[in-house]
Amino acid sequence: MANFPQGFLWGGATAANQCEGGYNEGGKGLGVPDIMTGGTVSEPRHITDGILEGRHYPSHEAVDMYHHYLDDIKLFGEMGFKCYRMSINWSRIFPQGDETEPNQAGIEFYRRVFEACREQGIEPMVTLSHYELPYGLSKNYGGWKNPKLIDFFLNYSRTVMTEYKGLVKYWLTFNEINCLLMGGFGGVMGGGMVPEGLEDVPMTFGACDWDDPQARFDALHNQFLASAKCVVMAHEIDPANKVGCMIAGNATYPHTCNPADVLKAQREQREHNFYCGDVQVRGAYPAWAPSVWKREGVTIEVSDEDAATLKAGTVDFYSFSYYMSATASADPKASEGGNIFGGAGNPYLEKSDWGWAIDPEGLKYYLEEVYDRYQIPLMIVENGLGAVDEVEPDGSIHDPYRIDYLRRHIQQMDEAIADGVDLMGYTMWGCIDLVSASTGEMKKRYGFIYVDKDNDGNGTLERSRKDSFYWYKKVIESNGADL
Ligand code: BG6
Repeated sequence: MANFPQGFLWGGATAANQCEGGYNEGGKGLGVPDIMTGGTVSEPRHITDGILEGRHYPSHEAVDMYHHYLDDIKLFGEMGFKCYRMSINWSRIFPQGDETEPNQAGIEFYRRVFEACREQGIEPMVTLSHYELPYGLSKNYGGWKNPKLIDFFLNYSRTVMTEYKGLVKYWLTFNEINCLLMGGFGGVMGGGMVPEGLEDVPMTFGACDWDDPQARFDALHNQFLASAKCVVMAHEIDPANKVGCMIAGNATYPHTCNPADVLKAQREQREHNFYCGDVQVRGAYPAWAPSVWKREGVTIEVSDEDAATLKAGTVDFYSFSYYMSATASADPKASEGGNIFGGAGNPYLEKSDWGWAIDPEGLKYYLEEVYDRYQIPLMIVENGLGAVDEVEPDGSIHDPYRIDYLRRHIQQMDEAIADGVDLMGYTMWGCIDLVSASTGEMKKRYGFIYVDKDNDGNGTLERSRKDSFYWYKKVIESNGADL
């Protein structure tokens, strides 16, 4: 007998720019991902100054959910999904980002998507901003470092919350908001701050010469304000609305019991996970934030008005992604990178083919750390294994490695619930194969549903059920008892 509560939100998650395609259909404007090329685990994606001839931009077609959504949502229904986490592609609603009136075709598209979910008994959970800022707001305003974006975001959020009142009640403001703490990639993906004057730039994780820490911390502050105002507005539009933050969860262990490693791990855990969580859940920066600003050489002024805004707009629940854990070492030689926040390796853990340390127990550790700190409902809105899948001659796809990864993580969730954690739900990442955010590949597959498409954009787009599809159906039917 498992410990999952009745009404647990089992399901899957996607982001529009990674699955939707139709990048210039139905009046949609360009989004920042639409100018990002494909890459691989060893060849970084590039960000280009507009769309360059002869380059492959995987978001343009992605897996074409724009035209397949009805069938795809039926497949989610067949698995028994209670919840589908997805994002609205902002530039489908406001093509440049700064218009006052929305694009009606975009509004109607998502209305049909939400109605299809309702027909399948699936509760949508909508991310308002999942790494997909309208390119116009990047090009003409410089992205999120510009406080003008707060009002554009609120106008967009007000529009969709009003339009979809009664169809959607769960909202997330910014996907993995803490990625703005990472240099390079974080500033582009999270803040839409495309390097100016550079035509073709490889996307790096961490420090790079065009990274601007002041801009990233300003962008984060602007997003905190936008998120807080959005929470208040969501409750005014419909008291049934529930709004969550979304953090890239990064359980961090000391690499050894050397006290210097322990302190480094504590610092990283705080900064990667709690810097944003504290602002969005507790409504104020943590006491140690000024020491982070000092170390990073940035200045952040929190006016009385800002402080009141942050306090008024705390979230209803805390959501996060969890893929791996990291270790922290005070010894620079021990650092080997690999995880999104870097870190030293962990000899006790296996890694995925993309170098991500597989650590189900780290999920329990993270759930309990976060619940102890915040004491509000938690939701895992991303978790999964990016792997290479082979299609057998008879068309079947056997993915025991994915089932094993998910089973072990779900077991740890069960144990955390037994320890008293209030966990609302679990949406497995990339429930249908989609474009990888970090590498732009199709080869890095997460789905229960296989999509016939390769890294170069070839394929029929046909959908097929993997073994994990049938396994997850059973998990949901038994409310987590039959793993
Ligand atoms: C999270 C993002 O970082 O991880 C998703 O919110 C992303 O957009 C997911 O796809 C998995 O990462 P990747 O790089 O394997 O696609």
